[in-house]
Parts: sequence; C-alpha cells; structure tokens
Amino acid sequence: MNIKIIYETQNGTTQYVAEVIQKQLREAGHETILHSVKYDGMQPSLEGIDLVLFGGPTYDDGKLEKTLREFIDVYSPDLSRHKVAVFGLGNKTYPQFCVAADILEEWVKSKGGRLVVESLRVDGFPDHLEKISEYVQSLVKLS
Ligand SMILES: Cc1cc2nc3c(=O)[nH]c(=O)nc-3n(C[C@H](O)[C@H](O)[C@H](O)COP(=O)(O)O)c2cc1C
Repeated sequence: MNIKIIYETQNGTTQYVAEVIQKQLREAGHETILHSVKYDGMQPSLEGIDLVLFGGPTYDDGKLEKTLREFIDVYSPDLSRHKVAVFGLGNKTYPQFCVAADILEEWVKSKGGRLVVESLRVDGFPDHLEKISEYVQSLVKLS
C-alpha cells in the first residue's frame, strides 16, 4: 500500500510514534510518507494514497493540539476514497485521557472516512512498543 501519516507534535512524542509506525510499515513492505502539518503544510495531497493515518496529541483539558485544530478546520478532503486510521497521544494523569483520538475520529467520519482499525491511544512516552506493533499489524492485514 501507499501510506501517508499526517501528524503534529508539540514535544516530539507524536513524531516519535509516527516514525516508529513508518519504520514498521516500511519493514512490512509498504511505501510510507510522513507529513508534518506544521512543516509540510495544511493541504497534504492524498493522490495515490491507499491508507492515510492522522495522529496527534491531547492538550489543554481535552483538546486537540493547536496546529491540528487549525488543520482540521481548513483541510477538507473526501476521505471516502481512502482507508483511514487514527492514533492519539495523551497521558492518563489527565482526566480527559487521549481525547485527541476521539476528536480526530469524529472529524474523519465528518469527511466521509471509514476507520479501518481501532484507533491507537498512547499513554505517555511509549517505552514499550508492543501496542504500536499490534496497531501496525492490524494495518498490515488490510493489504
Ligand atoms: C499542558 C499539557 C496539557 C495536557 N493535557 C492533556 C489532556 O487533557 N489529556 C491527555 O490525555 N493528555 C494531556 N497531555 C499529555 C500529552 O498529550 C502527552 O504528553 C503527549 O505525549 C504529548 O505529545 P507531543 O510530545 O507529541 O506533543 C497534556 C500535556 C501537557 C504538557
């Protein structure tokens, strides 16, 4: 599959998770491109993309990270043409754990997208990669 991972980070954890997912997908033989909303722009092309992943962290009492909030306001793709998956980051010390994933899921559905696997929710910095690997395995099974 041709895969694009669209993400944003404030402190680097989401970028790390995005890079781990990219590495594992590449090892499984899939073309995988990373797209940082901040550095690569608010209008990522989905031409030729089979599977698109959206990922980002939770901040400020259960909100999506600021740049991603702006992004989902201005980016309006027809996601019905693609397989879509979401990953969110958070920390269970906060009452509104990992709401970023819920917000991204709702937004994907509002753009006609169908989520093809259960979203990954990462609690804190992922010292162990099992959950990420399971998520990637569920994505690889789609091909
Ligand atoms: C000021 C602040 C507010 C946060 N608020 C939440 C929150 O409401 N819910 C949650 O699950 N995590 C919350 N987090 C945790 C972050 O989502 C988590 O540390 C995440 O890994 C950060 O990702 P990043 O390094 O890609 O920016 C917060 C972190 C900070 C510093």
